[in-house]
Amino acid sequence: MHKFRYVRNQLHCENISIRSLAKKHGTPLYVYSSQTLIDNFNRLHKSVVPLDHLICFAMKSNSNLGVIHTLATMESGFDTVSGGEIQRVIAAGGDPRKCVFAGVGKTEDEISFALSKNIYCFNVESEPELTRINQIANKLKKKAPVAIRVNPNVDAKTHKKITTGTYENKFGIAYEKIAAVYARANKLKNIKLRGLQMHIGSQLTQVKPFEEAVRKVAPMAAKLKTKYGIEFLSIGGGIGIMYEDALASGDPKWWKCKEAKNILTPEKYADTLVPLLKPLGLKVLLEPGRFIAGNAGILVTRVEYVKRTGKKCFAIVDAAMNDLIRPAFYESYHEIVPVKQSRNRPIATDVVGGICETGDTFCKNRLIPRIEEGDLVAMLSAGAYGFVMAGTYNTRPLPAEVLVAGKNAAIVRKRQKVKDIWDGESVAPWQR
Ligand code: LLP
Repeated sequence: MHKFRYVRNQLHCENISIRSLAKKHGTPLYVYSSQTLIDNFNRLHKSVVPLDHLICFAMKSNSNLGVIHTLATMESGFDTVSGGEIQRVIAAGGDPRKCVFAGVGKTEDEISFALSKNIYCFNVESEPELTRINQIANKLKKKAPVAIRVNPNVDAKTHKKITTGTYENKFGIAYEKIAAVYARANKLKNIKLRGLQMHIGSQLTQVKPFEEAVRKVAPMAAKLKTKYGIEFLSIGGGIGIMYEDALASGDPKWWKCKEAKNILTPEKYADTLVPLLKPLGLKVLLEPGRFIAGNAGILVTRVEYVKRTGKKCFAIVDAAMNDLIRPAFYESYHEIVPVKQSRNRPIATDVVGGICETGDTFCKNRLIPRIEEGDLVAMLSAGAYGFVMAGTYNTRPLPAEVLVAGKNAAIVRKRQKVKDIWDGESVAPWQR
């Protein structure tokens, strides 16, 4: 569920009209709903309440300081993947001691920084990384808390670019090797074995792959607990959200509809997984990103031109693939709705950005109510992997971000100025 809905024909985020935000701050504009972040967090938390657990928000999905602060006040932990993300947690008032640090390419500087901030755990992805962490911890006279990421070789049945838990993927250490790697790690003087971690992929819409992975990994976690006293098992992130029917899914009644039965909800996830996890007596870490932030954000854009070619209708908008890359990168679907509710006849439309690439297309031949130059439209479910993946291709400045809480709305990231795009750039000395 989320807090984007039409009130008197105008799309609102909580109590604020999107039109007023676009007027004040311009477009393209990301708008986030605090209440939706909080509701999603609470809903997941409640569903796993029988477990001793910690939700570590995967901040790669949305690392805006306003968003991180909102979740930090909910006592969330954070799943981070760079020294920069740990710095963001601190800048937003979050607790680095609730951070896990994942990723296959941790640098020496990042490891030292994370150790100096006493993070909760490193999620180690390879044996050379384990060696490096041990060496750095030794230099700093510290013990590094570590969980090893097991690659369970389970197909998450999602898009191939966001599948992570098979032996084709670069992540983690093969299931069959784990016992030997823990035995070795246990002998390293500056390593403290704290947990076991896995993550099989993102945007999972069925519980089965999660179940398969947990069934495979739970007995391993039990053995590691007995042998080395590990305290947690992290089951990663990956809970999928609805991209189609995204607007309708904000309606509390909608969830009782027949269609809603086919969606992976936190309740279904918990009903299957809690009974498998509870007997372990371990703390369980969850690393949701998309489930918390995905439907808590939209990208608002204005139609620059409508180009009717006879064969096709193109609505050319002021957002482009540099602002929201998911459709171009994964051919993913984002529902696109007019900001002013419209009774216009639906027309098969390609909504496209202004970048000089054919892939800069948000949707193709999609039936949307006829839109005109100057109209505002919103791309829904853009709160996760939206702004964080934005870039400045074609020297287009990064969009602004607004956070809404009830009747309050504030810029939480200013629109980038064009000249800031080449900040730090110069001509070479001999060109002057
Ligand atoms: N934990 C780990 C170790 C991860 O690699 C990820 C996501 C998560 C947690 C959070 O997964 P989530 O709950 O958000 O599914 N850019 C892609 C998604 C990439 C996901 C990468 N890893 C997209 O736009 O769909």
